[in-house]
Amino acid sequence: MNIHVDVNRIIAELDQLAGFSGGEPPGVTRIVFTPDDMRARGFLKAKFAEAGLDVREDPVGNTFARWHGTARDLPAIATGSHMDAIPNSGRFDGTVGVLGGLEAIRALQTAGYQPRRSIELVLFTSEEPTRFGLGCLGSRLLAGVLAPEQASLLRDSEGSTLDEVRSAAGFHGNLEEVKLPEGYYEAFLELHIEQGPSLEREGIALGVVTDIAAPASLRIAIEGEGGHAGAVLMPERRDALTAAAELILGVESAALSTGVMDTVATTGICDVFPGAVNSVPSRVKLEIDVRDVEAERRNVVLGLVEQAARTIADKRGVKVHTELLNADPPARCAQFIINALVQSCAKEKYTHKEMISRAYHDSLFMARVTPVGMLFIPCRNGVSHRPDEYSAPESIGDGARVLAHALADLAA
Ligand code: GLV
Ligand code: MN
Ligand code: MN
Repeated sequence: MNIHVDVNRIIAELDQLAGFSGGEPPGVTRIVFTPDDMRARGFLKAKFAEAGLDVREDPVGNTFARWHGTARDLPAIATGSHMDAIPNSGRFDGTVGVLGGLEAIRALQTAGYQPRRSIELVLFTSEEPTRFGLGCLGSRLLAGVLAPEQASLLRDSEGSTLDEVRSAAGFHGNLEEVKLPEGYYEAFLELHIEQGPSLEREGIALGVVTDIAAPASLRIAIEGEGGHAGAVLMPERRDALTAAAELILGVESAALSTGVMDTVATTGICDVFPGAVNSVPSRVKLEIDVRDVEAERRNVVLGLVEQAARTIADKRGVKVHTELLNADPPARCAQFIINALVQSCAKEKYTHKEMISRAYHDSLFMARVTPVGMLFIPCRNGVSHRPDEYSAPESIGDGARVLAHALADLAA
């Protein structure tokens, strides 16, 4: 089948989507259920409907756009990704999988292909943990990995619960209804930018993912004693921020201690209270992200961080409270989907390599309820989660084309 992908159309749509942002351009900030997120949802739903897809939303705002196949009773083939963006991020993370998935469907329609199984495009709610501290909210609920009661209790930094925020955004149903029925999909495929440098460095067009690394995150609250920056003498201090500083270095040492490149740890949030130059910090909140392709080794690192927190607390006379926000297992992609993607690369004569995803994706959770596969395209200098994130139009076109072939094969 001859697949014609309209690269200019995807780029124009990515540009339009990037306009729904709360941040300073070229950075993109799109936090779940904010006005920017709602405008972006409206824009995308209109595009889905324009392509003749049947659109529905679930109670957490996951959005499904279905191209009905001739055999409507058979489990569908799904593709998709997210479009929320962390603060001061780029315009390609997630969005390439949503608009690339839509373009793959449009290209198949233009080619006159009629699917036997339905093909469904999924837009996941809040893949990023920015607002509620937990990534992949939508896909966790779809997979039944996050209990609806637990999800309802998640709060944002303003103290609003997920239930309050989603219902203000117009999503009212019961979260119990989000979980997908058994065997709902035959396969799920996600197109995404690599978010690392290897495809570009090796001059390879596409990455076919075999495994997704296991993420975890911790929130650590440190409570010391505040006071006047001039009057409290150094021996009297129980400074929460200097304790945090020591712990942040402890996080780095814990990751390095495995001696394996696959272990990474990041302290990405450090909130200081009261945040005045002439006041000793009394409280600090840290959020720490730890990952590895091997869950056991990652868990050892989590243990080392918790141990470091206790040791620093004793030494500095501060209190620490550690909360494990998530510690998820890794996922393996399904061999039949890997094969479909590899064959699709061959059809278009693209180079490819099999690789691990070090970033997490909604596929990590979809893998609990359906076979998954992922296709990566190169991104410039491997940069992601930054305003200068960039993937070339040709790469986006390559990804959409290969995705279209694979969807067609699997839906036939
Ligand atoms: C996803 O955004 C991740 O942090 O891997
Ligand atoms: Mn991301
Ligand atoms: Mn992403």
